[in-house]
Amino acid sequence: MHDLAHLPVPVWRDELANEYAALGARLEHLVPCLEWPLHLPLIDAINKLKQQRGAVIMAHSYQSPEIFHGVADVTGDSFALAQAAADCDAQLIVLCGVHFMAESAKILAPHKTVLTPDPTAGCSLAASITAADVRALRAQYPGVPVVSYVNTSAAVKAESDACCTSANAVQVVEAMGSARVIFVPDRFLGSYVASQTRVELLLWNGRCEVHEKFTAQQARHARERFDAKLVAHPECPPEVWAEADFVGSTSAMVRWLAKEQPARVALITECSMADNLRAQFPRTEFIKPCNLCPHMQQITLQNIYSCLRDLRPAVEVPAEVAARARTALTRMLAVGRRETV
Ligand code: 13P
Ligand code: SF4
Repeated sequence: MHDLAHLPVPVWRDELANEYAALGARLEHLVPCLEWPLHLPLIDAINKLKQQRGAVIMAHSYQSPEIFHGVADVTGDSFALAQAAADCDAQLIVLCGVHFMAESAKILAPHKTVLTPDPTAGCSLAASITAADVRALRAQYPGVPVVSYVNTSAAVKAESDACCTSANAVQVVEAMGSARVIFVPDRFLGSYVASQTRVELLLWNGRCEVHEKFTAQQARHARERFDAKLVAHPECPPEVWAEADFVGSTSAMVRWLAKEQPARVALITECSMADNLRAQFPRTEFIKPCNLCPHMQQITLQNIYSCLRDLRPAVEVPAEVAARARTALTRMLAVGRRETV
């Protein structure tokens, strides 16, 4: 397997334009034409290398279009990627997303090699809470179960009764069978869940640095200036979801768009997501109040290529932490995701 480690740097050849004509046409409005000659040699080299390696590339919806459409085999939200890792047949997974996503994949596929193109790709939510914080909450509220959003470290998951994603947070909280639940770390998602259930939630003060920046004024501007429908992620502040026509997770947004087929929509979420969906919904015009996740942007075609070539960096989670975190993640997968749209 290591005989591929000294491959030359991929360079442009004219045939690539023909070989990838269909992809080029699909991404015509998403990837600036000046960038295309830089991307294509890497896309081609990654696709060849992944076949030689027998690898599966999984990419979160917030990855840039050249990754999402150009090299990924599996795409989706945090729930879909965790499920795909648990079900995956390949021995080698390259997880294009932030570190907690790669960690979750490794925990759910412990006998596989999980590579992360940039292990420093973090998340403001995951950074907002530690395992010691969760233990302190348990001491403060004895007997109250802990649900942690999947945007947390493996160590925090290990201290939790169950994990959830934004696609199934309400169901997971209710599945705890308790009148009170400690919900960490996202305060805004927790507030949204609290608005949808009778369970009392004890919240932590974590925030997504991307979604917390959206304002109600921006949302109103998109509606009034562009006559757009508003679709907001529950990681946004409550005054933003109050303006929205639909509030839902990444996967629920996609189902809503497929069902409603709006002429114009403002997706109030990370803006690579809107780029990726433009290719899937060509009849809908996407207005982009644009906030990019800087951590997601750390993943590039270049570092995907390097990690497939060099077979590193691989994600490792200490066995004892992984075993407890797996219990919480497996509970999350068992609850499934809400398909209400
Ligand atoms: P989902 O993938 O669960 O929609 O989460 C959004 C997000 O911010 C991921 O980091
Ligand atoms: Fe974390 Fe927000 Fe970036 Fe998602 S979008 S990885 S929640 S900082």
